[in-house]
Amino acid sequence: MKLKIAVLAGDGIGPEIMEQGVAVLSAVAEKFGHEVSYKEALCGAHAIDEVGDPFPEETYQACKEADAVLFASVGDPKFDNDPTAKVRPEQGLLAMRKRLGLYANIRPVETFDCLIHKSPLKDELVRGADFICIRELTGGMYFGQKQEGTDEAWDTNYYSRPEVERILRVAYQYARQRRRHVTVVDKANVLASSRLWRKVAQEVMLEYPDVQTDFMYVDNAAMRMIQDPRFFDVMVTENTFGDILTDEGSCITGSMGLLPSASTGESTPVFEPIHGSWPQGKGLNIANPLAQILSVAMLFEYFGLQAEGRLIRDAVSASLAANVRTPEIQVEGAPRYGTREVGQWIVDYIRKA
Ligand code: IPM
Ligand code: MN
Repeated sequence: MKLKIAVLAGDGIGPEIMEQGVAVLSAVAEKFGHEVSYKEALCGAHAIDEVGDPFPEETYQACKEADAVLFASVGDPKFDNDPTAKVRPEQGLLAMRKRLGLYANIRPVETFDCLIHKSPLKDELVRGADFICIRELTGGMYFGQKQEGTDEAWDTNYYSRPEVERILRVAYQYARQRRRHVTVVDKANVLASSRLWRKVAQEVMLEYPDVQTDFMYVDNAAMRMIQDPRFFDVMVTENTFGDILTDEGSCITGSMGLLPSASTGESTPVFEPIHGSWPQGKGLNIANPLAQILSVAMLFEYFGLQAEGRLIRDAVSASLAANVRTPEIQVEGAPRYGTREVGQWIVDYIRKA
């Protein structure tokens, strides 16, 4: 297969983990005889500094023309504590989602047995937890009308029926590949937008009688994820709730540095780690490259290249089992490995496989 990849490394640890993601992508492509070409493009704080725009037109074109985007992370502390900043790196990410029509964000929450002791939850609660959150990504409060005055401000949580319907269908399609259980998460006891979600879901569910559907208020879902994460198979929810719940999901597995994601929709799909740009870790060769590398696995799988994805997942599991780990998940007394060393170990594993 020929694959054109737009590479958006962004800010903070982004460029370092991206280097490893690209190395793994190339190693797998070589092994399986795929022809991959890369085009790097600017985004985030980096792009603001260079051209004054966190998602420049040139970057949009590079994404449009690619088969897939491999994205790392954006963000810079110099913007975080300045609510008056006119442009912010995060706007680049939101612009990318909107302009590429990436309405479905797929965030798997998977546990690795050898890292369960890192979870803040008890072993017996979290062992075997395996679910995915399908987060609506181009609607809701993130993109609804806003007003920002000196003494008053508001955001609008707007949703239309087609927006809700299409994301629900994505959830049902995933459920059919998994344990056939969808949980629709909303706040229908309070919010009008949530009542629309529930109404539409009650209709759409009839088309998927082979899938069990249940409804859960978001506050209850936040609790259930901690009490009994194994309850969930496919969770589907609106943009803001999905943002919050997926951070919660990522930490129950033991390391945020291990979770990849895919954003798909109308145009080129984007694959990215769910963690942020971790500016404090920049340039220190300590960032965990595994979420970026697993995002590459999701990229191959998106194109139906299951064996390629499998090989990456096996390599990642093998690296963990061999204690080739970055500092935040390192076993006491084991040798120290950095971002580059973990990436190189995985590339070597793939070449030898
Ligand atoms: C995420 C991030 C983004 C979001 C930020 C950086 C705009 O937190 O991808 O979850 O809120 O969607
Ligand atoms: Mn988030």
